[in-house]
Amino acid sequence: EPGAKAATVTIELATPRGFCAGVERAIEIVERALEKFGAPVYVRHEIVHNRFVVEGLEAKGAVFVEELDEVPNDAPVIFSAHGVPKSVPAEAERRSLIYVDATCPLVSKVHVEAERHFKDGHHILMIGHAGHPEVVGTMGQLPEGAIQLVEEVADVEALEVGDPENLAYITQTTLSVDDTAAVVEALRQRFPHIRGPKKEDICYATTNRQQAVKDIADRCEVLLVVGAPNSSNSQRLVEVAEKSGCPKAFLVQRAADIPWAELQGVTHVGLTAGASAPEVLVQEVIEAFKQRHDVAIRLSETVTENVHFKLPRMLLTEDDDRR
Ligand code: F3S
Repeated sequence: EPGAKAATVTIELATPRGFCAGVERAIEIVERALEKFGAPVYVRHEIVHNRFVVEGLEAKGAVFVEELDEVPNDAPVIFSAHGVPKSVPAEAERRSLIYVDATCPLVSKVHVEAERHFKDGHHILMIGHAGHPEVVGTMGQLPEGAIQLVEEVADVEALEVGDPENLAYITQTTLSVDDTAAVVEALRQRFPHIRGPKKEDICYATTNRQQAVKDIADRCEVLLVVGAPNSSNSQRLVEVAEKSGCPKAFLVQRAADIPWAELQGVTHVGLTAGASAPEVLVQEVIEAFKQRHDVAIRLSETVTENVHFKLPRMLLTEDDDRR
């Protein structure tokens, strides 16, 4: 029959997915700074790793730059959710810039941990991905050489450390829970006295999004993760899906990226979103499926999240006091 839709597709919608409390806070910081100071407001680095979010803020007057030297003296600047090396606020102070730090409080917590280990005289190993802004920011809390990066189990073997009795570890917040557990285990094997957090520093949002994917992965033939290629936690969701029994998983930035050729004949699709991907893009993906198929949505909620972070005092208004 002409115009007939193809077979019904069941979309398993992972919950929780998408925005975490740190991303919501960072976006609100930029919006409020625009209201308070007026455009342009400069933002050092993508506020969160998502083009759609960045372009939305650009349309309102935010200007994204990579380094502080691109910010004029009389404009306010915001530091991204991933955190920044100490040298960045120091330089902003030196130039008397107005700045607002949108570093996620759960990243700041790791910064504090690192400082404490350093003061206690420990050499620090950071489990994380080289070059990711969060890693650059955390390593930049301390003098060069105080923190050494460990990316995977194989690195543990090769590590050369001065005093194996005097080590501590910290982690990036958006790592794979399972891969990190393996690295921590390898560290503990080789350095039984190493100090660290109870488990790791992976944040609640990363943990919950990975668990939600694990819960649906073996029911899905394909799983789509809405997220950006430079988003660490989104990439991890793709890996977690494939390791948890879903034959194929793909990162899509939005509906236009859906790999339809890979979806031929598929009737069970998993759908989730990284912590920096807005829900409108998830809905856009669902709409794209609805144009081609009858769609049944299956919601499975792994845990309910109820995390909110306070805004920096500088951006609070009288309305906030009344709330
Ligand atoms: Fe913070 Fe975790 Fe989100 S560290 S920004 S709550 S992914």
